[in-house]
Amino acid sequence: MADRLAGKVALITGAARGQGAAEARLFVAEGATVVVTDVLDDDGAALVADIGEGAHYRHLDVTQELEWQAAIDHIRATFGHLDVLVNNAGIGIPGTIIDTSLADYRRVIEINQVGTFLGMHVGAPLLRDSGGGSIINVSSMMGFVGGPARVAYTASKFAIRGMTKVGAIELGPMGIRVNSIHPGAIETDFIRAETRHLLPVDKLPLQRIGTPDDVAKLALFLASDDAAYSTGSEFIVDGGWLSTTAL
Ligand SMILES: NC(=O)c1ccc[n+]([C@@H]2O[C@H](COP(=O)([O-])OP(=O)(O)OC[C@H]3O[C@@H](n4cnc5c(N)ncnc54)[C@H](O)[C@@H]3O)[C@@H](O)[C@H]2O)c1
Repeated sequence: MADRLAGKVALITGAARGQGAAEARLFVAEGATVVVTDVLDDDGAALVADIGEGAHYRHLDVTQELEWQAAIDHIRATFGHLDVLVNNAGIGIPGTIIDTSLADYRRVIEINQVGTFLGMHVGAPLLRDSGGGSIINVSSMMGFVGGPARVAYTASKFAIRGMTKVGAIELGPMGIRVNSIHPGAIETDFIRAETRHLLPVDKLPLQRIGTPDDVAKLALFLASDDAAYSTGSEFIVDGGWLSTTAL
């Protein structure tokens, strides 16, 4: 047990599994109190039971403003402050521009993009009243380049990168840092089993898929006071994917 987040309260969205779950484990191990939120209530409850003291579960569909308000009100009443907000929840629905239905496009935008906006919109006042803190918005390497047959996903992740800049500008004077994380291919349920073998792992500079812990360690840095002078910035954790034209 270390103490890089001692005394801090964090809310992580989409944290019942995958990268968010790894962040919850690591943040608690580093001394934080973590409110794990998701729509997968059974998985979320099982995770916090496994992590033990310091982890709490709460249902939060990131597309629902009233659920956001209830979660933030609950944290204010229960813990008195919020220091770290990780807007991690996200989905991908593959589809080309021609094939993607409007309903699918809107669903991806609603969860990834609107969900991140709502997190900052509703959560920032409590971070401000807590004396400042850190917001971490999970984008993707597709926040820099287009993904083939990923029109909605790419659009949503570019938007997250953009709204992170606005957050940094507007919230910096309140002591709130806002940064984006850009994972490459990370080993979670997000990568469908049937397409995993198509990933060009051998062409990646680091020759492997990333792990949820690779991302969690970056999130830990940004959540901690070690990142005190970083805001409005893009933090890539992709094994070198974006650095090469070989892919
Ligand atoms: N795995 C990758 O290769 C990869 C790469 C780049 C970016 N990302 C991003 O990382 C983030 C985490 O993904 P992951 O890899 O852990 O995948 P994951 O599918 O394991 O986790 C995503 C979580 O978001 C939750 N979620 C979905 N809709 C929600 C909603 N409306 N409200 C609240 N929670 C909701 C899911 O239930 C799930 O627990 C996502 O934003 C994803 O876009 C993933």
